[in-house]
Amino acid sequence: MTSIIAGNSGPRAEIFPELTRDVIDRMKDAEDPRLREILAVVVRHMHAIVREANITHDEWWRAIDFLTRAGKMCSENRQEFILLSDILGISMLVDAVDNAGGPGLSESTVLGPFYAGRPRELSAGESILLREEESDPLEMSGRVTDSQGRPIANALVEVWQTAPNQLYDVQDENQPEGHLRGSFRTDVAGTFLFRTIMPVSYPIPNDGPAGQLLAAMGRHPFRPAHIHFMISAPGYRTLVTHLFLDGDEYLESDAVFGVKPSLIIRPKLIDGLNTVDYTFGLADEREHSRLQVEDLRRQRR
Ligand code: BEZ
Ligand code: FE
Repeated sequence: MTSIIAGNSGPRAEIFPELTRDVIDRMKDAEDPRLREILAVVVRHMHAIVREANITHDEWWRAIDFLTRAGKMCSENRQEFILLSDILGISMLVDAVDNAGGPGLSESTVLGPFYAGRPRELSAGESILLREEESDPLEMSGRVTDSQGRPIANALVEVWQTAPNQLYDVQDENQPEGHLRGSFRTDVAGTFLFRTIMPVSYPIPNDGPAGQLLAAMGRHPFRPAHIHFMISAPGYRTLVTHLFLDGDEYLESDAVFGVKPSLIIRPKLIDGLNTVDYTFGLADEREHSRLQVEDLRRQRR
């Protein structure tokens, strides 16, 4: 049983503390200890928000209405909750917590909602375009290595980017399915090579609740020009990342907070062709577990 003791007077932090304890205590028989641990933190923080921000009935109803509209917006091609997680910095925070970095390892960033499953496999040097575009061509070469710089052969390199009209194929019925997507295998030297076009900056979908929230926060919806990469190999931690174009006006204000300096590329003009060469370092699974434990120890010191 819970009862209100503090009422509405007095410091907010002290309002109805036994309710919070009661909600958490009643999870003691939950079968999954990790779920119980997470839910206890969620309840504590949600209750703290209500107390600290003095949430009114009207405001709470508006929050529920907002989440209901976000749910209704979701479909096979639209994930409003990923957008909300991204624009509030939660996706990048989960990534920071779950991905230990280290010397020789590439930095990760958000997956985003437009990964559409493994794209068609192409041979080294092929283009990921399925139709001509009026954009500057880009030749993208690279290497996939372990943290010691040793090549990883046969790694799967999946790439995707928007067309110059700022849309992914899955958002645009006029683009051929699979346009500007491809996967490649690294050779024995860990290298890969493909042809594409210079990426452009674009707005994330902003015609729903996530867009309304951005506007209410006084923010723009743009992401700086980038190419997505997902790189996997047996025994290694899958790397989800992007490469961003230097000089883009949105590098400092990416709508989803995904930019890291190590991921910014400066194409070189070689024989009139924009060319990028980039090395991706993958953590092996055991190394990753060790780095995570070291991270935890550092945080607890
Ligand atoms: C993207 O880069 O594809 C993306 C990431 C987060 C939200 C929307 C789009
Ligand atoms: Fe993107």
